[in-house]
Amino acid sequence: MLDSIRKTEQEFDVALAAAASHADLEALRVRFFGRKGGAVHALFAELKAVPAERKKEVGEALNQLRDSLEARLREKLDASAAEENARKQARSSIDVTLPGRTPSFGSLHPITIVRREIEQIFREMAYSIDPGPEVETDWYNFEGLNFTPDHPARDTQDTFYLGPELLLRTHTSNVQIRTMEKAAPPFKVLSAGRVYRRDEITLRRSPMFHQVEGFFVDRGVHFGHLRGTLEHFMRRVFSPDTEVRFRPSYFPFTEPSAEVDISCPFCHGKGCGTCSKTGWMEILGCGMIHPQVLRNCGIDANEWSGFAFGLGIDRVAMIKFGMPNIRTLFENDLRVLRQF
Ligand code: PHE
Repeated sequence: MLDSIRKTEQEFDVALAAAASHADLEALRVRFFGRKGGAVHALFAELKAVPAERKKEVGEALNQLRDSLEARLREKLDASAAEENARKQARSSIDVTLPGRTPSFGSLHPITIVRREIEQIFREMAYSIDPGPEVETDWYNFEGLNFTPDHPARDTQDTFYLGPELLLRTHTSNVQIRTMEKAAPPFKVLSAGRVYRRDEITLRRSPMFHQVEGFFVDRGVHFGHLRGTLEHFMRRVFSPDTEVRFRPSYFPFTEPSAEVDISCPFCHGKGCGTCSKTGWMEILGCGMIHPQVLRNCGIDANEWSGFAFGLGIDRVAMIKFGMPNIRTLFENDLRVLRQF
C-alpha cells in the first residue's frame, strides 16, 4: 500500500511537470482527485482492506499524500490563473499612441442654408420670425385672404384637403391672417416653411416646397417701402449688382400686386440659356395688402397700410447653387449634400 502511495506521488510529479495549460491542470485534478476513479480517492477506498494494526501508519501516509498533492496543484492553478489574467490585461489595454478616429460631421441642407440666410437678412431689419402651421383651415389659407368660396384664383392653388374645412396650406400667406388677427399693428413678420400643392413632380415643381412670406404693416407704408425692401433683399441673397423689376400682376389679397424679376444671376442681364435669353428671372410675388384683408383681421384700413411678398426658397436655392432640377433638393443623395 505504501508502495502505491509512492507510485501515485511519482505519477503526479511527472504529470504536473508536463501540464502546460489550465486545461492540462484541470485534467490532472480530475485524474487524481475526481470523485469517480480519481487515484487518491481509489487509495482511500483501499484503506478499508488494510489490517487494523497498520491502518494508522497507512492512513497518515495517505493524508499526507492528499495534502501535499492538493497544495502543489493549487499552487500551479493559481499561477496559471494569474498568468491568464496578465495576458488578458495586456490585450485590452489602451494604446495611447494610436491616431484617433475622426468623427464625420453632417452639414446643413441647402434649403436650410438659404432659409437661415433669408431669416438673418430680415432679422437685421427688425422682422420677427414665425413659421406658422402647415395644417390650416380654409379661413386662414383662403377666405381671410380674400379668396371668396368660388374665387377663380383658388383653382391656381390646387389644394390637398384633409377635410371640408381643413387643408395643407398652399402658401405661407396664412401667417398674415394669423398674425394680424391676434395682435394690433404695427407688424414686421417673416415666415418660412413648407407649403403643398397638388402638382406633378417636374424639373421645377414638387407637391411640397418651401416659401418665405414677409409683411410689414404700419402707418403710411407705401409701395416705395416694398420696392426698397425687396431690392435690398435680392442684392443680399444674390449679388450687390442685382437689378429688380416689377411687373403688374394679380393676387386676391394684394392691391396693387406685382411679380418681381431679378436680373439673371448667371449672365448679369446679358441673356443666357438659364434665363431663356431674356436677361431676367421671375422670382417672387408681392403687393400692398388689400384693405379688405386688413378689415378681415379687425384692422382699420384708413389708419394702417402694409405690403407683403412671397417667394419659393427652393427656387432661390436652385439659382444660388446652380441646380437645374428641384428633385436634387429632395432626394437626399449624400454625394450632393456633402458639397454643402
Ligand atoms: N402667396 C403668393 C403665392 O404663393 C405669393 C404672395 C405673397 C403674393 C404675398 C403677394 C403677397 O403665390
